[in-house]
Amino acid sequence: MAVALLVAAGRGERLCASGPKAFVTVAGRPLYAWSLDALRAAPSVSEVVVAVPEGVEAPGGVAGGASRSESVRNALAAAPAAEDVVLVHDAARPLVTVELIEACVAGLEGFDAVVAATPVTDTVKEAVDGIVSRTLDRRALWSVQTPQVFRRPMLERVLSQPAEVLAAATDDAGLVEAFGGRVGIVPAPPENLKVTTPVDLRLAELLLRRRDANHVGGVDGTHIS
Ligand code: CTP
Ligand code: MG
Repeated sequence: MAVALLVAAGRGERLCASGPKAFVTVAGRPLYAWSLDALRAAPSVSEVVVAVPEGVEAPGGVAGGASRSESVRNALAAAPAAEDVVLVHDAARPLVTVELIEACVAGLEGFDAVVAATPVTDTVKEAVDGIVSRTLDRRALWSVQTPQVFRRPMLERVLSQPAEVLAAATDDAGLVEAFGGRVGIVPAPPENLKVTTPVDLRLAELLLRRRDANHVGGVDGTHIS
């Protein structure tokens, strides 16, 4: 069994909404509620702790931090110590499924951490000042998502580093890699997208409405805008 940390404390600056991104309404519900439901429905998740922005009240919520990893650290501090496995998920990925959550928890065997990831489909080039320096071998590239699952002692160790180290990390698995930990990939569908910009929000809205309509057996199209 795992304890899940749902990080929802970001400001959502790139979305340019009037409030914090995780609380923006998408397909009729706050963004974070979609992944909270999936985590609560996952058989291997015993409890969910949600990191929320300062001043926002939410059941089971704790105050997040100045950076994403600091929000993870705050949520971890509030998580029951009974579980040795910790799953971290971004509230900005509302399309996560129970199936993917279960695959990530099961995939931890033999690793210090695992990340959900999808193969890169674009050609990726490195460029400095608009001049290409090299083209990376796409066959070895993965776009990393959440869920990310960790052995708790390892996660606690990497999150005990100074705030500036945590602020520089774009994901927690990167901190484990820097520590020499063994990090595995769990293949995930590209639909598990992150809502970052307004176009992502529109896409998530469409996909969530379609999924919702399929779940309730809706065929009349009234759910689909
Ligand atoms: N997050 C968090 N605490 C922070 C920063 C981010 O809990 N201090 C969470 C966000 O709520 C989100 C996830 O981490 O669910 C991924 O971060 P990102 O997509 O960057 O969200 P924001 O930081 O909110 O967006 P932006 O960077 O555009 O401001
Ligand atoms: Mg951010």
